[in-house]
Amino acid sequence: MDIIKINNISVSYGDNKVLKDFSMGIKKNGITAIIGPSGCGKSTLLTSLNLMLEENGGSFTGEILFKDKNILSYPKNDIRRMIGMVFQKPTPFPISIYKNLTYAPVFYGIKDKEKLNEIVKNTLIKTGLYDEVRGNLNMLATKLSGGQQQRLCIARALTVEPDVLLLDEPCSALDIKNTANIEEMLLELSKEYTIVIVTHNLSQAKRISDYTAFILDGQLVEYDETEKLFTSPSDIRTKQYIEGVYG
Ligand SMILES: Nc1ncnc2c1ncn2[C@@H]1O[C@H](COP(=O)(O)OP(=O)(O)OP(=O)(O)O)[C@@H](O)[C@H]1O
Ligand SMILES: [Mg+2]
Repeated sequence: MDIIKINNISVSYGDNKVLKDFSMGIKKNGITAIIGPSGCGKSTLLTSLNLMLEENGGSFTGEILFKDKNILSYPKNDIRRMIGMVFQKPTPFPISIYKNLTYAPVFYGIKDKEKLNEIVKNTLIKTGLYDEVRGNLNMLATKLSGGQQQRLCIARALTVEPDVLLLDEPCSALDIKNTANIEEMLLELSKEYTIVIVTHNLSQAKRISDYTAFILDGQLVEYDETEKLFTSPSDIRTKQYIEGVYG
């Protein structure tokens, strides 16, 4: 079942049309990787899915369905809650670890202290941070290591029980060990959540994703099971890209 359906969208910033007549479905659960050269529209696609596009000065025509309902028919705050986003550079709030994780739940109306404690604990466990930070929850989150900060940002997105996690190159600022940590965590999370990850790291897409979409110049060139796309791509441009001819 597709949790998100993108039907013939075109996305522009002013006169600059970035995604052209773009359609794709995103399956519930599992990991979908988005690959393609710099500037092809990957980040634009992600921001279209949680309605951040407008805030970045963009707009779209066509239709995006979330759980079979037009995404524009949901209150924006609901979409932001149900479709979380994590960026390339870790962006913890400059407040304590604990408050990073209670910020959104409090915003959405949870006041009960025990419930909040439970959310903090559960999201730290899910992101593998619990043992590392349990004694230091009042520490400033910006003092964590880069990899820990990124896991905290993923934990923060999980505090409001989203359905979908959009990750825009979440590992590109991290070393191999932290990247491996995050990949392992994403594989675990993908049993419960739908994960869409933009990555320049083709081995990463191969390692962790179930489906891969290759975008070139604002158009979806090929979208298939990861195994198939990387071993026997149907389009010559996909073959060239994964062989490193461009991008
Ligand atoms: N906020 C914005 N305002 C105007 N133009 C933008 C904006 N964001 C992106 N663009 C333009 O849209 C096009 C696609 O950009 P986008 O960031 O989606 O590419 P990308 O595939 O994510 O690239 P990268 O791999 O470098 O992150 C580029 O030409 C870019 O200049
Ligand atoms: Mg980008």
